[in-house]
Amino acid sequence: MTEKEYFPIKVDKIRKRLLKYTRKAFRMLPQLDHPYILDIGCGSGIPTIELARLSQGRVLGLDIDQSALARFNKRIDEMGLTESIRTLTCSMVDMDFPDDSYDIIWAEGSIYVIGFENGLRQWRRFLKPGGFMVVHDEQETIEEKLRQIANCGYKLIGYFVLSKEVWRAEYFHPLEKLIGETMKEHALSQETTEELRHAQWELEMYRKYPDRNNSVYFVMKKN
Ligand SMILES: C[S@@+](CC[C@H](N)C(=O)[O-])C[C@H]1O[C@@H](n2cnc3c(N)ncnc32)[C@H](O)[C@@H]1O
Repeated sequence: MTEKEYFPIKVDKIRKRLLKYTRKAFRMLPQLDHPYILDIGCGSGIPTIELARLSQGRVLGLDIDQSALARFNKRIDEMGLTESIRTLTCSMVDMDFPDDSYDIIWAEGSIYVIGFENGLRQWRRFLKPGGFMVVHDEQETIEEKLRQIANCGYKLIGYFVLSKEVWRAEYFHPLEKLIGETMKEHALSQETTEELRHAQWELEMYRKYPDRNNSVYFVMKKN
């Protein structure tokens, strides 16, 4: 593995620890026959690949970050998933799909970019009638988000919380360890340094605002 690839791939491995929650949210959906799924803000595709596997359907992973998508595309090739997963470099604010395109829209850690309520409103038309929306977002006030879900034309199927302790044990503690090891062991390239800086910033935000790190999976059905 080249120096440039080393750090982000290790971060992806840590991200995989949270996949059990992607699976838990997916199991809250009814059985669907080879659904077509849009994953908004898919990053390097860790949850996207799991969705393709779980659903046996097709997934479009959309993100604005080209280097994360390059890593994702490499993985798709290596894993022989080109039939089931495609990627698209696009901002979520520029999405222009026909109405009623998808059986499921999935968004983990990305809806904050346009705001929870705004995202639910704008993305709704891309869902087929009776389609499903799964969003993993900061907890903030669950009550307000539940109201927004109803106001935006969805029925809540269910939700569950990931506590800050889960985030600490399964993500931030391993990330802190990785950052420490990486700084000791590697002379870093510019690009790796950027990834490292981003991870350090994430960690800093977590330490500063630990309560922000309660997050929630909301599983919804389009009315
Ligand atoms: C916290 S990461 C989550 C990645 C992935 N969903 C996951 O759970 O591992 C947020 C993602 O949103 C993407 N993002 C940020 N702004 C975006 C935009 N305007 N349009 C599309 N994606 C965006 C980032 O590039 C990043 O990959």
